[in-house]
Amino acid sequence: MERALKKCNNLIFDVEDFEKLYFLVSPKKWMLVCDKSFDFLPTQIKKIYDMHKNNCVVFSDFESNPKYESVLAGLKLFDDNQCTLIVAIGGGSTIDVAKCIKLFYGIDGRELLFKQKPNYGLISKINLIALPTTAGTGSESTKHAVIYHNGVKQSICDNEIIPDAVILDSSVLRGLPIIHKKAALLDALCQACESWWSNDSNEQSVFYSELAILGIIDQWELYLSGDENAAYRILKAANYAGKAINITKTTAAHAMSYKLSSMYNIPHGIAVALCFPVVWEHMIMKADEKLLKVFDNISLCFHSCDSYSAISYFKHIIKEMEIVSPKSENMEEDIKILVDSVNPERLLNNPIKFDKNEIRYMYEEILK
Ligand SMILES: [Fe+2]
Repeated sequence: MERALKKCNNLIFDVEDFEKLYFLVSPKKWMLVCDKSFDFLPTQIKKIYDMHKNNCVVFSDFESNPKYESVLAGLKLFDDNQCTLIVAIGGGSTIDVAKCIKLFYGIDGRELLFKQKPNYGLISKINLIALPTTAGTGSESTKHAVIYHNGVKQSICDNEIIPDAVILDSSVLRGLPIIHKKAALLDALCQACESWWSNDSNEQSVFYSELAILGIIDQWELYLSGDENAAYRILKAANYAGKAINITKTTAAHAMSYKLSSMYNIPHGIAVALCFPVVWEHMIMKADEKLLKVFDNISLCFHSCDSYSAISYFKHIIKEMEIVSPKSENMEEDIKILVDSVNPERLLNNPIKFDKNEIRYMYEEILK
């Protein structure tokens, strides 16, 4: 049987449409991948779950930075039950687990599954629906997933894991702790800007970046005050940011954020937001005419007349969110570790090249 939802092509649906999507697939067996969000499922999803729970296997035995072994446990459950539909409801990690279960399905052999060629014949029949419960990662619209094997980050990338259908429902954001709201929103904003100035940007990705930045800049205050209408618009903006980085990937601010996040135990989006204005300022100094024009266009979406005003508005946002740089006990040693951590491959699509000294200066400013 062909994949029933293939033609959805990552289309966005309202939660009321879940019943129709479920009907289109009519799976003999399906898998619900979710985290704690199972207790807060939107009523429309809960209704379908209650009607079809005898056909459903629930998988939630994974962690927020999912381990390869956890994905294998989910894969076994999926395989044992011969599911044809995965519904992922949760944050970026949940959606990443669901993507990897799909991607690894039906691979023969004893080697690590993420190092092997997927069984495209089999996985092309698996339907994947994603409902994000944080507005920020954009994972519901990307070909990327991150899992950890023996503590080492594995970046997975395959077009087959882009969810067929996306459901956006602002009710799931009601119970989200404010720190996660802030972190995810900043992540989406930085992703949209980085995608725009990336060497790999194109007309389509720039269009998505524009929509994302405008949506976030216009709604972030209302969203953080608990406005449900603003929450829906932020969900959409975050989705556009996801679509933008699906084309371009992220750049220097993200590359510099990963170690900062793990070293000081701060959420990913906060770490990126601490790096972002410093990286942008350093890029202005080395930018050519063409790049300065790109920066001007990004600034317009911040309702700012130039890059410096846009950066200053970005700093205003993080100040309003009461976000401060982590305090280092041993600055010299920490900066050395941070500089060495930056993955040079991640810097390749950054429009400005930075050497180790420049990266060091930037970290000194970030930790100031
Ligand atoms: Fe990110």
